Order: sequence, then C-alpha cells, then structure tokens
Amino acid sequence: MRATAIAQPNIALIKYWGKRDSTRNLPAVGSISITLRDLFTKMSVQLDAELASDVLYVNDERDDGMLPRISACLDEVIGRSRMRARVDSVCNFPIAAGLASSASAFAATTLAAAGAADLHLDTQRLASLAGRASGSAARSLYGGFVELANKGNDIAMTVLCDADSWPLSVVVAVTESVPKAVGSSEAMEISRKTSPFYANWVERQPEDLDVARNAILERDFRQLAIIAEHNCLKMHSVMWASRPPTMFWNAATMACLQTVRKLQGDGCSVFFTIDAGPQVKAVCLPGDAETVHAALAATPGVTEVLVSALGAAARLVDPR
Ligand code: PMV
Repeated sequence: MRATAIAQPNIALIKYWGKRDSTRNLPAVGSISITLRDLFTKMSVQLDAELASDVLYVNDERDDGMLPRISACLDEVIGRSRMRARVDSVCNFPIAAGLASSASAFAATTLAAAGAADLHLDTQRLASLAGRASGSAARSLYGGFVELANKGNDIAMTVLCDADSWPLSVVVAVTESVPKAVGSSEAMEISRKTSPFYANWVERQPEDLDVARNAILERDFRQLAIIAEHNCLKMHSVMWASRPPTMFWNAATMACLQTVRKLQGDGCSVFFTIDAGPQVKAVCLPGDAETVHAALAATPGVTEVLVSALGAAARLVDPR
C-alpha cells in the first residue's frame, strides 16, 4: 500500500505549448526533451483506509495548494473510489519556478501511485496518465532524449537516444526562485485564444521536430542548437503577443542569453532554452560545462547555477 518513486525533470528542446484538448490535457503539438540526472523529485504514496482525505507534505511541510492536482493524479491512476493517501514529496531544486518541477513531481507521483495500488502498467500507459496531470510529465517517465507525439486521442512516446549515447551537460542559471505568477496551463490557453502567432506555431512544429530528431540521431550539436533556440524564441514570441501578454523573463534572463551568445562567439558548444519561468538552461558539451558555469555565475542577476548531466527514466525505489 506504499511505494516511492524518483523522477528527474526534463527540459524541452522542442517545446510543448498549447493544448488540443484541455479536459484530457492533450498537447496541441509534439515535443522533444532531455531528462536530467542531478535534479530530482522523490514521491512516496501511502494508501491508508483510515484517512478521511488526502494529505500532501512537500519537503516535510504540509502543502494544501498543490494537493488538488496530486489528488486528481491519484484518481486518474488508481480510480476515484480509491483509499485516501498520504503523499510525501522531496525535491532538491526550486519548485514551480520554470525548472520543470511539475514534470518530475507528476511522473514520480504516477509511478508511486501505480506501485502503491499494485497496478502493473507499462511505461507508455504511465506516461499517458502522467501527461493528464502535467503535459511535460509524460516525458520524465523516460531517460535521455525523448519524443512525445500526438496519436489519436492519446500520446505516443519514443526514446530517440539514451543518456549515455550522447552525453550533454545542462547548466541552469537561476535568476529568481519564487513560484511563477501564472501557471503554464492558464498561459497556454491565453496564447491559444489570443495570440496571432499561435496557429503558425502549431502548424510549423512538425518541421522543428523533424530537424531536431535528425540532429539527435546524427549527434549534430550545431543543428540541434540552432533549432532548439529558434523553437524556444518562437514559443516565447507566441506568449509575448498574447493578450494579456505572458512574460516570464526578467532582466537577468536576457543577460544570460547575451552570455550564451558571447560564449558561442568564443567557440563554446552551447545553446540556451527557457521554459515557463525566468531561468535559463544552457545545454553544452560536457567539456564546455565549466566555462559555461563560470560565465553564467558571473552574469548580473544570476542567484544560483545548477549543473546536471543527462539521466535515466523515472523508477521505483526502496524503501517502499
Ligand atoms: O507540463 P506543463 O503544463 O508544466 O507545461 C510545460 C511547458 C513548457 O515547459 C514551457 C514546455 C515544455 O515542453 O516543457
């Protein structure tokens, strides 16, 4: 009746932005991501017939704000007539600040919930269930380079390359660690309804996916860099042009982009990407990680720099 799972966040290189069905939380576009190794969320789910309602602890503190989404995720995996649960979460990086904490949290919750209820679900099924809680969470069920594609009324997952087959480093420049003002689901709906660039974003996504997939299969860092930066800036342009505009960046975000441009000019193999928050993720070849780390740490407004290699899939761990 108890299971614990660990999942790592993933960073999208070709982004998911927009839903084709918000009730089932199905994405409007496919996406490609890399799963990290060194940042993690650990979730324990304890089903307990004595409990009258679910309860959630995040890093040992009760968290009623996040509880409804966790309860909904448990309902999806186990069923609505399930026992209530105590859920304990431990996370070693800032939560809800655009560092993909919801991806690792819901991937781990889905896996732990299935484990606690003794359900034997395959990874594709777990990914579909995790994706209902948070679109990006589906990708954290897998390690390495992961593609999420739309397939009928579901999603289909493919591992393009595992973490060891193309080792890259991700250097995260944290510029603010407060939770974001607007959640990604709400911001996506604003984009869909009001951004004049939204239709073009959805229509052109298959081209970006093709270029990135080929770059990954050929281990072509330069091609991947070009398409990932382009796709990221397009996603933010969609948001900036919506009404009201969604602007996750701050001055330090922009300063980090300039740092990355300077590093590229100096011959570093590095590119940037930014999600629904002001943090900048610099993806680089491992040999350049130290230089990228030092340059981002010295960038005005950067409060913390985290480094991670690429990692493996979400997994159940002991103690159960
Ligand atoms: O999974 P969500 O609902 O938190 O949305 C994630 C959206 C982005 O991080 C901006 C892009 C992505 O593909 O991860």
